[in-house]
Amino acid sequence: MNMQTLESTARAMVAEGKGILAADESLPTIAKRLSSINVESTEEMRRSYRDLLFTAPGIEEHISGVILFDETMRQQSLTGKSFPALLADRGILPGIKVDLGLTTIPGTQDEKVTRGLDGLETRLEDYRRLGARFAKWRAVISIASHKPTPLCLRINAHALARYAAICQDHDLVPIVEPEVLINGGHDIGRCERAMEKTLHAVFAELVRHGVLLEGMILKPSMVTSGIDSPDQADIDTVARVTIRCFKRTVPAAVPGIAFLSGGQSSELATAHLNAMNRLGGVPWELSFSYGRALQEKTLVTWQGKDANRELAQKTLLHRAKCNGAARSGTYSEEMERS
Ligand code: 13P
Repeated sequence: MNMQTLESTARAMVAEGKGILAADESLPTIAKRLSSINVESTEEMRRSYRDLLFTAPGIEEHISGVILFDETMRQQSLTGKSFPALLADRGILPGIKVDLGLTTIPGTQDEKVTRGLDGLETRLEDYRRLGARFAKWRAVISIASHKPTPLCLRINAHALARYAAICQDHDLVPIVEPEVLINGGHDIGRCERAMEKTLHAVFAELVRHGVLLEGMILKPSMVTSGIDSPDQADIDTVARVTIRCFKRTVPAAVPGIAFLSGGQSSELATAHLNAMNRLGGVPWELSFSYGRALQEKTLVTWQGKDANRELAQKTLLHRAKCNGAARSGTYSEEMERS
Protein backbone atom coordinates (compact mmCIF):
# COMPACT_ATOMS: atom_id res chain seq x y z
CA MET A 1 0.00 0.00 0.00
CA ASN A 2 1.38 3.39 -1.02
CA MET A 3 0.05 5.71 1.68
CA GLN A 4 1.22 8.84 -0.08
CA THR A 5 -0.58 7.95 -3.32
CA LEU A 6 -3.77 7.10 -1.45
CA GLU A 7 -3.74 10.30 0.58
CA SER A 8 -2.97 12.61 -2.32
CA THR A 9 -5.57 10.97 -4.58
CA ALA A 10 -8.22 11.19 -1.84
CA ARG A 11 -7.45 14.87 -1.33
CA ALA A 12 -7.61 15.53 -5.08
CA MET A 13 -11.04 13.88 -5.22
CA VAL A 14 -12.40 16.50 -2.80
CA ALA A 15 -10.29 19.43 -4.05
CA GLU A 16 -11.68 22.90 -3.38
CA GLY A 17 -14.65 23.84 -5.54
CA LYS A 18 -14.88 20.39 -7.12
CA GLY A 19 -16.83 17.17 -6.73
CA ILE A 20 -17.41 13.82 -8.37
CA LEU A 21 -19.73 12.88 -11.23
CA ALA A 22 -21.26 9.45 -10.63
CA ALA A 23 -21.81 7.95 -14.09
CA ASP A 24 -21.48 4.33 -13.07
CA GLU A 25 -25.04 3.20 -13.70
CA SER A 26 -25.19 -0.56 -14.18
CA LEU A 27 -26.80 -1.94 -17.37
CA PRO A 28 -30.33 -2.21 -15.86
CA THR A 29 -30.08 1.27 -14.29
CA ILE A 30 -28.82 3.06 -17.40
CA ALA A 31 -31.54 1.28 -19.39
CA LYS A 32 -34.09 2.80 -17.00
CA ARG A 33 -32.58 6.29 -17.34
CA LEU A 34 -32.46 6.09 -21.14
CA SER A 35 -35.98 4.71 -21.37
CA SER A 36 -37.18 7.81 -19.47
CA ILE A 37 -36.26 9.78 -22.64
CA ASN A 38 -37.50 6.99 -24.95
CA VAL A 39 -34.02 5.93 -25.99
CA GLU A 40 -33.14 2.26 -26.32
CA SER A 41 -30.14 1.19 -24.23
CA THR A 42 -27.74 -0.13 -26.90
CA GLU A 43 -23.99 -0.19 -26.37
CA GLU A 44 -23.63 2.58 -28.95
CA MET A 45 -26.22 4.81 -27.26
CA ARG A 46 -24.61 4.33 -23.86
CA ARG A 47 -21.27 5.24 -25.42
CA SER A 48 -22.69 8.39 -27.06
CA TYR A 49 -24.28 9.50 -23.82
CA ARG A 50 -21.17 8.97 -21.71
CA ASP A 51 -19.10 10.67 -24.42
CA LEU A 52 -21.39 13.70 -24.21
CA LEU A 53 -20.89 13.84 -20.42
CA PHE A 54 -17.13 13.35 -20.37
CA THR A 55 -16.30 15.78 -23.18
CA ALA A 56 -18.52 18.61 -21.90
CA PRO A 57 -16.38 21.77 -22.18
CA GLY A 58 -15.38 23.35 -18.87
CA ILE A 59 -16.52 20.62 -16.47
CA GLU A 60 -12.95 19.93 -15.34
CA GLU A 61 -13.14 23.16 -13.34
CA HIS A 62 -15.82 21.67 -11.09
CA ILE A 63 -15.45 17.90 -11.51
CA SER A 64 -12.48 16.17 -9.85
CA GLY A 65 -13.37 12.61 -10.76
CA VAL A 66 -15.88 10.44 -12.60
CA ILE A 67 -17.12 7.03 -11.47
CA LEU A 68 -17.40 4.66 -14.42
CA PHE A 69 -19.12 1.32 -14.96
CA ASP A 70 -17.16 -1.70 -16.20
CA GLU A 71 -18.41 -1.34 -19.79
CA THR A 72 -17.50 2.38 -19.97
CA MET A 73 -14.05 1.74 -18.51
CA ARG A 74 -13.34 -0.43 -21.58
CA GLN A 75 -15.05 1.73 -24.19
CA GLN A 76 -13.52 4.32 -26.47
CA SER A 77 -14.76 7.85 -26.82
CA LEU A 78 -15.94 9.06 -30.23
CA THR A 79 -12.40 10.38 -30.83
CA GLY A 80 -10.98 6.87 -30.39
CA LYS A 81 -9.34 7.46 -27.02
CA SER A 82 -10.37 5.22 -24.13
CA PHE A 83 -12.72 6.94 -21.68
CA PRO A 84 -10.33 6.69 -18.71
CA ALA A 85 -7.51 8.18 -20.83
CA LEU A 86 -9.77 10.97 -22.08
CA LEU A 87 -10.72 11.90 -18.51
CA ALA A 88 -7.13 11.71 -17.26
CA ASP A 89 -6.01 14.01 -20.11
CA ARG A 90 -8.56 16.56 -18.87
CA GLY A 91 -7.21 16.32 -15.32
CA ILE A 92 -10.22 14.32 -14.13
CA LEU A 93 -9.58 11.18 -12.07
CA PRO A 94 -11.20 8.03 -13.47
CA GLY A 95 -12.86 5.77 -10.90
CA ILE A 96 -14.74 2.48 -11.12
CA LYS A 97 -17.78 0.91 -9.49
CA VAL A 98 -16.61 -2.48 -8.27
CA ASP A 99 -19.57 -3.89 -6.37
CA LEU A 100 -21.84 -6.35 -8.16
CA GLY A 101 -25.17 -5.09 -6.87
CA LEU A 102 -27.49 -6.23 -4.10
CA THR A 103 -28.86 -9.51 -2.85
CA THR A 104 -31.44 -10.19 -0.13
CA ILE A 105 -30.15 -11.18 3.30
CA PRO A 106 -31.80 -14.51 4.13
CA GLY A 107 -34.17 -14.37 7.08
CA THR A 108 -34.76 -10.61 6.86
CA GLN A 109 -37.69 -8.67 5.50
CA ASP A 110 -35.91 -8.01 2.21
CA GLU A 111 -32.91 -6.19 3.63
CA LYS A 112 -29.95 -6.16 1.23
CA VAL A 113 -26.24 -6.85 1.30
CA THR A 114 -23.84 -5.94 -1.51
CA ARG A 115 -22.12 -8.62 -3.59
CA GLY A 116 -18.68 -8.54 -5.19
CA LEU A 117 -15.93 -9.51 -2.75
CA ASP A 118 -15.13 -12.80 -4.51
CA GLY A 119 -12.42 -12.22 -7.09
CA LEU A 120 -12.22 -8.51 -6.23
CA GLU A 121 -8.40 -8.51 -6.15
CA THR A 122 -8.19 -9.71 -9.77
CA ARG A 123 -10.75 -7.19 -10.97
CA LEU A 124 -8.93 -4.35 -9.20
CA GLU A 125 -5.66 -5.27 -10.88
CA ASP A 126 -7.42 -5.11 -14.22
CA TYR A 127 -9.04 -1.74 -13.44
CA ARG A 128 -5.74 -0.24 -12.31
CA ARG A 129 -4.19 -1.31 -15.58
CA LEU A 130 -7.07 0.39 -17.41
CA GLY A 131 -6.35 3.63 -15.53
CA ALA A 132 -8.64 3.66 -12.49
CA ARG A 133 -7.45 5.68 -9.50
CA PHE A 134 -10.31 5.07 -7.14
CA ALA A 135 -13.22 2.67 -6.63
CA LYS A 136 -16.76 2.67 -5.32
CA TRP A 137 -18.89 0.16 -3.38
CA ARG A 138 -22.48 0.95 -2.44
CA ALA A 139 -24.27 -0.57 0.54
CA VAL A 140 -27.98 0.03 1.01
CA ILE A 141 -29.78 0.43 4.32
CA SER A 142 -33.55 0.84 4.40
CA ILE A 143 -35.77 2.33 7.08
CA ALA A 144 -39.08 0.65 7.98
CA SER A 145 -40.57 -0.96 11.06
CA HIS A 146 -37.83 -3.23 12.50
CA LYS A 147 -35.36 -1.92 9.91
CA PRO A 148 -32.47 -1.54 9.77
CA THR A 149 -31.71 -4.70 11.74
CA PRO A 150 -28.37 -5.08 13.57
CA LEU A 151 -27.58 -7.98 11.23
CA CYS A 152 -28.02 -5.81 8.15
CA LEU A 153 -25.81 -3.06 9.58
CA ARG A 154 -23.16 -5.51 10.63
CA ILE A 155 -22.73 -7.43 7.42
CA ASN A 156 -22.89 -4.36 5.21
CA ALA A 157 -20.25 -2.64 7.35
CA HIS A 158 -18.11 -5.75 7.16
CA ALA A 159 -18.35 -5.93 3.37
CA LEU A 160 -17.56 -2.22 3.00
CA ALA A 161 -14.48 -2.58 5.20
CA ARG A 162 -13.25 -5.72 3.39
CA TYR A 163 -13.67 -3.91 0.08
CA ALA A 164 -11.91 -0.76 1.35
CA ALA A 165 -8.93 -2.69 2.71
CA ILE A 166 -8.52 -4.62 -0.56
CA CYS A 167 -8.73 -1.40 -2.60
CA GLN A 168 -6.03 0.28 -0.55
CA ASP A 169 -3.87 -2.80 -0.92
CA HIS A 170 -4.09 -2.12 -4.69
CA ASP A 171 -3.42 1.63 -4.28
CA LEU A 172 -6.98 2.54 -5.22
CA VAL A 173 -8.83 5.02 -3.00
CA PRO A 174 -12.05 3.41 -1.78
CA ILE A 175 -15.26 5.42 -1.86
CA VAL A 176 -17.17 3.91 1.04
CA GLU A 177 -20.85 4.39 0.27
CA PRO A 178 -23.45 3.52 2.86
CA GLU A 179 -26.75 4.82 1.47
CA VAL A 180 -29.61 5.09 3.93
CA LEU A 181 -32.49 5.10 1.48
CA ILE A 182 -34.84 8.09 1.33
CA ASN A 183 -37.84 5.76 0.73
CA GLY A 184 -40.49 5.75 3.43
CA GLY A 185 -42.70 8.01 5.49
CA HIS A 186 -40.28 8.41 8.44
CA ASP A 187 -39.29 11.74 9.93
CA ILE A 188 -35.77 13.18 9.95
CA GLY A 189 -35.12 11.98 13.53
CA ARG A 190 -35.61 8.39 12.47
CA CYS A 191 -33.20 8.91 9.58
CA GLU A 192 -30.64 10.44 11.92
CA ARG A 193 -30.77 7.44 14.25
CA ALA A 194 -30.43 4.99 11.35
CA MET A 195 -27.52 6.97 9.89
CA GLU A 196 -25.77 7.22 13.25
CA LYS A 197 -25.97 3.46 13.79
CA THR A 198 -24.83 2.83 10.23
CA LEU A 199 -21.79 5.08 10.47
CA HIS A 200 -20.80 3.72 13.90
CA ALA A 201 -20.89 0.21 12.46
CA VAL A 202 -19.02 1.21 9.29
CA PHE A 203 -16.17 3.05 11.04
CA ALA A 204 -15.77 0.34 13.68
CA GLU A 205 -15.22 -2.18 10.87
CA LEU A 206 -12.98 0.12 8.83
CA VAL A 207 -10.70 0.54 11.85
CA ARG A 208 -10.80 -3.20 12.61
CA HIS A 209 -9.70 -3.90 9.02
CA GLY A 210 -6.80 -1.44 9.22
CA VAL A 211 -8.19 0.90 6.58
CA LEU A 212 -6.17 4.12 6.22
CA LEU A 213 -8.79 6.77 7.01
CA GLU A 214 -6.73 9.50 5.30
CA GLY A 215 -6.85 7.47 2.09
CA MET A 216 -10.61 6.99 1.69
CA ILE A 217 -13.69 9.07 0.89
CA LEU A 218 -17.06 8.61 2.59
CA LYS A 219 -20.10 8.81 0.30
CA PRO A 220 -23.23 8.84 2.43
CA SER A 221 -26.76 10.02 1.94
CA MET A 222 -27.82 13.19 3.75
CA VAL A 223 -30.00 13.04 6.84
CA THR A 224 -33.46 13.97 5.53
CA SER A 225 -37.14 13.19 6.05
CA GLY A 226 -38.42 10.11 4.21
CA ILE A 227 -39.71 10.94 0.73
CA ASP A 228 -43.31 10.16 1.75
CA SER A 229 -43.20 11.98 5.07
CA PRO A 230 -45.85 14.71 5.37
CA ASP A 231 -43.44 16.59 7.60
CA GLN A 232 -40.49 17.55 5.37
CA ALA A 233 -37.51 19.04 7.21
CA ASP A 234 -36.38 22.32 5.62
CA ILE A 235 -32.97 22.95 4.08
CA ASP A 236 -31.36 24.44 7.18
CA THR A 237 -32.62 21.60 9.37
CA VAL A 238 -31.26 18.97 6.97
CA ALA A 239 -27.88 20.75 7.00
CA ARG A 240 -27.77 21.08 10.78
CA VAL A 241 -28.90 17.52 11.58
CA THR A 242 -26.65 15.96 8.93
CA ILE A 243 -23.60 17.73 10.32
CA ARG A 244 -24.53 16.84 13.91
CA CYS A 245 -24.82 13.19 12.96
CA PHE A 246 -21.53 13.13 11.08
CA LYS A 247 -19.64 14.94 13.85
CA ARG A 248 -20.70 12.13 16.16
CA THR A 249 -19.54 9.35 13.90
CA VAL A 250 -16.94 10.29 11.25
CA PRO A 251 -13.29 10.58 12.36
CA ALA A 252 -11.55 13.86 11.53
CA ALA A 253 -8.83 11.90 9.70
CA VAL A 254 -11.22 11.25 6.80
CA PRO A 255 -10.38 13.91 4.17
CA GLY A 256 -13.82 14.29 2.66
CA ILE A 257 -17.47 13.44 2.65
CA ALA A 258 -18.92 13.39 -0.86
CA PHE A 259 -22.68 13.08 -0.64
CA LEU A 260 -24.90 11.12 -3.04
CA SER A 261 -28.13 12.74 -4.19
CA GLY A 262 -30.34 9.70 -3.58
CA GLY A 263 -33.49 10.89 -5.33
CA GLN A 264 -33.41 14.54 -4.26
CA SER A 265 -34.14 17.05 -7.01
CA SER A 266 -31.08 18.66 -8.61
CA GLU A 267 -31.71 22.04 -6.99
CA LEU A 268 -32.42 20.63 -3.53
CA ALA A 269 -29.27 18.50 -3.54
CA THR A 270 -27.26 21.64 -4.37
CA ALA A 271 -29.07 23.77 -1.77
CA HIS A 272 -28.46 21.17 0.97
CA LEU A 273 -24.74 20.97 0.21
CA ASN A 274 -24.54 24.75 0.12
CA ALA A 275 -26.28 25.08 3.51
CA MET A 276 -23.89 22.56 5.08
CA ASN A 277 -20.86 24.42 3.78
CA ARG A 278 -22.27 27.70 5.05
CA LEU A 279 -22.49 26.18 8.54
CA GLY A 280 -18.86 25.08 8.33
CA GLY A 281 -16.85 24.21 11.43
CA VAL A 282 -16.15 20.62 10.34
CA PRO A 283 -12.83 18.82 9.87
CA TRP A 284 -13.68 17.28 6.48
CA GLU A 285 -14.33 18.68 3.00
CA LEU A 286 -18.07 18.53 2.30
CA SER A 287 -18.50 17.68 -1.36
CA PHE A 288 -20.75 15.95 -3.85
CA SER A 289 -20.70 12.69 -5.78
CA TYR A 290 -24.03 13.03 -7.52
CA GLY A 291 -25.51 10.81 -10.18
CA ARG A 292 -29.07 11.86 -10.86
CA ALA A 293 -28.73 15.38 -9.45
CA LEU A 294 -25.97 16.12 -11.98
CA GLN A 295 -27.34 14.19 -14.94
CA GLU A 296 -31.12 14.45 -14.87
CA LYS A 297 -31.47 17.74 -16.75
CA THR A 298 -28.69 16.84 -19.16
CA LEU A 299 -30.47 13.63 -20.09
CA VAL A 300 -33.78 15.40 -20.62
CA THR A 301 -32.12 18.10 -22.75
CA TRP A 302 -30.29 15.54 -24.87
CA GLN A 303 -33.24 13.27 -25.78
CA GLY A 304 -30.80 11.01 -27.61
CA LYS A 305 -30.37 13.56 -30.44
CA ASP A 306 -27.04 14.85 -31.76
CA ALA A 307 -28.63 18.23 -32.42
CA ASN A 308 -29.16 18.69 -28.65
CA ARG A 309 -25.70 17.54 -27.64
CA GLU A 310 -24.13 20.95 -27.15
CA LEU A 311 -27.04 22.31 -25.15
CA ALA A 312 -27.05 19.15 -23.01
CA GLN A 313 -23.35 19.66 -22.27
CA LYS A 314 -24.05 23.26 -21.23
CA THR A 315 -26.75 21.96 -18.88
CA LEU A 316 -24.22 19.61 -17.26
CA LEU A 317 -21.69 22.41 -16.93
CA HIS A 318 -24.32 24.59 -15.26
CA ARG A 319 -25.14 21.95 -12.62
CA ALA A 320 -21.44 21.27 -12.05
CA LYS A 321 -20.88 25.00 -11.59
CA CYS A 322 -23.76 25.34 -9.11
CA ASN A 323 -22.47 22.42 -7.05
CA GLY A 324 -18.93 23.78 -7.29
CA ALA A 325 -20.23 27.00 -5.73
CA ALA A 326 -22.10 25.01 -3.06
CA ARG A 327 -18.71 23.64 -1.99
CA SER A 328 -17.93 27.06 -0.53
CA GLY A 329 -21.48 28.04 0.44
CA THR A 330 -21.66 30.63 -2.34
CA TYR A 331 -24.48 29.05 -4.38
CA SER A 332 -27.67 31.09 -4.68
CA GLU A 333 -31.00 30.72 -6.43
CA GLU A 334 -29.96 33.48 -8.84
CA MET A 335 -27.36 31.10 -10.24
CA GLU A 336 -30.21 28.90 -11.45
CA ARG A 337 -31.56 31.72 -13.55
CA SER A 338 -28.27 32.74 -15.14
P1 13P B 1 -27.37 9.45 -6.98
O1 13P B 1 -26.68 10.76 -6.73
O2 13P B 1 -28.28 9.46 -8.17
O3 13P B 1 -28.00 8.90 -5.73
O4 13P B 1 -26.24 8.42 -7.40
C1 13P B 1 -25.05 8.39 -6.73
C2 13P B 1 -24.49 7.03 -6.75
O5 13P B 1 -23.37 6.83 -7.15
C3 13P B 1 -25.32 5.94 -6.24
O6 13P B 1 -24.53 4.81 -6.03
